[in-house]
Amino acid sequence: MNLRQTLQALFPEVLPELIPGGFDRVGDIAVVIVPPELEALERDIGEAILALHKTIRVVAKRNGKYSGEYRTLPLAIIAGEERLTTLHRENGVNLHLDLAHVYFSVRSAHERARIATLIEPGESVAVLCSGIGPFPLIIGRHSKAGKVIGIEKNPIAHGYALQNLRANRKIASVRFFEGDAAQMLPSLNHRFDRILIVLPHGGESLLPSSLAALKPSGTLHFYDMQAKGCSSATCAKVVTACRDHGRRIRRFEVTTCGHCGPTVHRVCLDAVIDTTE
Ligand SMILES: C[S@@+](CC[C@H](N)C(=O)[O-])C[C@H]1O[C@@H](n2cnc3c(N)ncnc32)[C@H](O)[C@@H]1O
Repeated sequence: MNLRQTLQALFPEVLPELIPGGFDRVGDIAVVIVPPELEALERDIGEAILALHKTIRVVAKRNGKYSGEYRTLPLAIIAGEERLTTLHRENGVNLHLDLAHVYFSVRSAHERARIATLIEPGESVAVLCSGIGPFPLIIGRHSKAGKVIGIEKNPIAHGYALQNLRANRKIASVRFFEGDAAQMLPSLNHRFDRILIVLPHGGESLLPSSLAALKPSGTLHFYDMQAKGCSSATCAKVVTACRDHGRRIRRFEVTTCGHCGPTVHRVCLDAVIDTTE
């Protein structure tokens, strides 16, 4: 029996639409959404997940939304061991993390793999807002990039990025920097072939420093949250920043790479950006 069938059998009185049908698996932690109506049953739901999945050691429920400058997700442990630290494996890379203090979403795994396939041999790549390091490490692992850097403001996430670099010893092209990307990027005095801004809420604040650090004809990947079908608003943010910084978009594509609720999509604008001179 799957989770939904197991829970429905345990709680026949509960409306089927309230029963959690699955969870996000981060290492050996299950992250589940428990509707408020089922709060009294949350411990049993957690125990049912532990019983069904022998490699899960912790069950945590979402206790709110991603928020704050470090974009962390409030979680409450409902069953299993009392910890939110784990080791997660994604796209052939080992990632240590602590869900209590850093942002990490397994739902971006496909997007990270997609970006890695776009990298040309020898490229220099900057990932702004690199968290515990999944984008730089997956790019380093699956491409022939010459140099990949990650910049992250959350000191705990940066600490994990350094630990993850040590844990994936074969990846030699990656370096991590701690700080605000808007200040750190210019201080590196380097122009990049490709820059990713992985801050879907407020990433436009990093467009000026990114455009200044992007080589002529370089590629920008700009993540944004947009109402379904409204990618023109995302394009407008980049077009405006380009106009203010002597750049123009030569060509672009918009990829939908997740969602935040039924009507809001996480999109990535992939744009090749020329200089206007
Ligand atoms: C949506 S998360 C993405 C993390 C990572 N790239 C990933 O895929 O797991 C955004 C990250 O940006 C960091 N951040 C927010 N503002 C920043 C800034 N101005 N400079 C550097 N990092 C920033 C947050 O701490 C958070 O870790």
